[in-house]
Amino acid sequence: MIAHARLWDLEDLSPLTPVIPFREKTERLPPRPRILFVTPEISRISPLMCPGAERFSVKSGGLADISATLVENLIRDGADVHLAIPHYRNIFRNGKSDGNASAICAAPESRVHLAEDCAFYRRTGAYHGSPDELRSAAIAFQREVINHIIPRVRPDIVHCNDWMTGLIPAACKKLGIKTLFAIHNIHREATTLAEIENKGIDAGGFWNLLHYENYPSSFEDCYHHNPVDPLSSAIQNADFVSTVSPTFLEEIIHNKHGRLPASIRWDLRMKIDSGYASGILNAPDASYDPELDGALAKKYDHTNYRRGKNGNKRQLQKQLGLSQDSKAPIFFWPSRLDPVQKGCQLLTEILFQITSDYSEDGLQLVMIGDGCFQDHFHNIVARHDLRDRVAIMNFDEDLARLAFGGSDFVLMPSSYEPCGLPQMIGARYGTLPIVHDTGGLHDTVSQLSDDCSTGNGFVFHHFDSNGLRWAIDQAMAFHRSPKHIHEATLGRVMVESASRFSTEAMCAQFSQIYRKLVQDKIGASSQSS
Ligand code: GLC
Repeated sequence: MIAHARLWDLEDLSPLTPVIPFREKTERLPPRPRILFVTPEISRISPLMCPGAERFSVKSGGLADISATLVENLIRDGADVHLAIPHYRNIFRNGKSDGNASAICAAPESRVHLAEDCAFYRRTGAYHGSPDELRSAAIAFQREVINHIIPRVRPDIVHCNDWMTGLIPAACKKLGIKTLFAIHNIHREATTLAEIENKGIDAGGFWNLLHYENYPSSFEDCYHHNPVDPLSSAIQNADFVSTVSPTFLEEIIHNKHGRLPASIRWDLRMKIDSGYASGILNAPDASYDPELDGALAKKYDHTNYRRGKNGNKRQLQKQLGLSQDSKAPIFFWPSRLDPVQKGCQLLTEILFQITSDYSEDGLQLVMIGDGCFQDHFHNIVARHDLRDRVAIMNFDEDLARLAFGGSDFVLMPSSYEPCGLPQMIGARYGTLPIVHDTGGLHDTVSQLSDDCSTGNGFVFHHFDSNGLRWAIDQAMAFHRSPKHIHEATLGRVMVESASRFSTEAMCAQFSQIYRKLVQDKIGASSQSS
């Protein structure tokens, strides 16, 4: 475990950082900055923020988990954190709640601020809907944050996440509020000033700070026809930009994903050079621990994992209707079945072949994820009658945890991956990751060496089904290796992962950024006074 100072012990600041005594120079500033964390999804709300709100959860992807982990740990570290999130009435009701989120979060001591708009009320998932609906919901969310939540909370720092919060840094700049913008993904929906203003955001004060597709000659010329790019606008205006892994930041700068204009990549590079952009590796929540995980049929650690994993494998096979065979290697697909990012099309090309080539080993595949490619997998399974070897299920948190516990390998052949959490969770559970060498996967998985003394998984470099097949063959060779090598390797990987993928390290880095932004604010206000 990495020890770090509590967030606001100012005397612990590094000697390189000039310490400006808070009270003497800055009577007007609070002794502890208030952080407003703005996110479209969160998988768990800490009861420390608002008793009763822990029942409200909305999760579509990794951003929800990271939001929950970060907010909870920052509060434990002593930070004054508030949360802004859309009021997903329907989703919150489907949880174990009574649906009365507005009343609960309106309590005077609450630090949870719900953005109200009918665009969120009937949603069934944070990002369900057409691009028009997503864009319109994102603008409604930002309207509530800019017009109501920021004036109510009066934060020192606003921590924004992804394009749905991308207009906020420009609005905050005008108000003298520092912002941190975290890039979890490079998707975004462009909008227009007309749409922004029609939805109720007065952009008059900051329209010239936004990033447009074409040169913005005047407010009137831009209004209807010059699209605003919310992701680029955020990068341009945020005081600090973070990505969720160091390699993904490098990839953006080098235009590997071809999605950001040159001027914005240049801006980002300047921010890196001046210490105002960095890649901070996500870490899985501490609850992903096979010793503690209540969703497992059998809990285990690095000393007794063989019995533990076998118990979970039997339960998983039983629950999913697979052949009951504790020797069968199970490959677990933990992500959305999304061909743009997650690379599931590579698996469709080789699925039948690997099940038939490794039929003597009894190779099985467990897929737990929603997405448009589910039907393709169902068709392959039906055509080749693979029902006792391949299970395809919608996403379910407890089932996914059981699969981490009961499988042998985790499949993540993503075409690009800003960070990715399942590869780290897998390693913690002794379920070795098979990954394409990209983004956060590059930073967290390295190829197992021939003698198995180093490395924690299987890494392929050419993004095609041959690359994936090569990595699966490597994994199967490892699966067939002598028992003592197999055991020593899994034990080593489990121990290393528990300390390496740590939320403490992630939170400590965000704490440093907050300190830096607060000091900048203090520096600026003492210069102007
Ligand atoms: C997005 C990214 C994923 C990352 C997650 C949390 O879902 O695709 O790579 O792990 O956000 O930051």
